Amino acid sequence: MKVFIIVFSSIVILFLIMGLIELKLLTVTEYEIKSPDIPESLKGKKIAVVSDLHEVYHGKDNVRLLEKLKEINAEYIVVPGDVINGRSEKELKYAGHILQGLSTLGGQVIYTFGNHEEKLAVNLKDRTAYEKLVKMSNEYSVLLNDASFCPEQDDKMCFVGLNLPLWLYHDHDRTGMLKTKVGDIMKKDCAAGKYTILIAHDPEHFDNYADAGVNLCICGHLHGGIVRMPFLGGMVTPRLQIFTKRSKGVFEKGKMKMVISGGVGWHDFPIRIFNRPEIVVIRFV
Ligand SMILES: [Fe+2]
Repeated sequence: MKVFIIVFSSIVILFLIMGLIELKLLTVTEYEIKSPDIPESLKGKKIAVVSDLHEVYHGKDNVRLLEKLKEINAEYIVVPGDVINGRSEKELKYAGHILQGLSTLGGQVIYTFGNHEEKLAVNLKDRTAYEKLVKMSNEYSVLLNDASFCPEQDDKMCFVGLNLPLWLYHDHDRTGMLKTKVGDIMKKDCAAGKYTILIAHDPEHFDNYADAGVNLCICGHLHGGIVRMPFLGGMVTPRLQIFTKRSKGVFEKGKMKMVISGGVGWHDFPIRIFNRPEIVVIRFV
């Protein structure tokens, strides 16, 4: 029994050390997206996804993150939420710094809030800091909170940013309101037939996004499952869900493909096992 306890404890300690080391090993994961719906102007272009930063630094002032993004040289840099943790106004300094850094890289920065940005107003019981974050985000990026954006250079495609209400991070959409909401945002600026890229922080509404008729959906939120097991995938999410069906990778339903980023950061549990922080690159072919 004593030998078993020693061996078991050693394995756990080894895994924890590995998990701490992996936090620092920022990687780039590339996915090719193929579809007859992709407009000619978009083919060969890249989207870099920087998700779930959670106020984390990769190098001083995030220099390693910014250098990798500079090398990737993507036409678009999508930030699908959780830049901050939403606990204090001091976090705005981090948000301003990283958004400013991203805005100097040459790609168009497109940002949609996640649950942690939304928690800022709730936790502080005041919207002043939240409004400051909105203003700052508009300064350094195209902020899409329930809004869309059709770039001039790619006029056959359209980004739609869906800002989920906090209750939908704990519940299902039973009434089909997300389909209606996405449809309404699309109607405003996205002419019918455009290749539509939905940015929505939480991937758990997979079926609702597919029902809305988008072509590609970019998500984050689940951090790839924090601990990933070979063949089984993400084991436990930041919300302590066990073996969630989709926590990282590419998934498909009908004409929609969903890309879920494992994220570049972490919060509360500073550990990632077999699950390095990642910048996701989506390449259209
Ligand atoms: Fe999140």
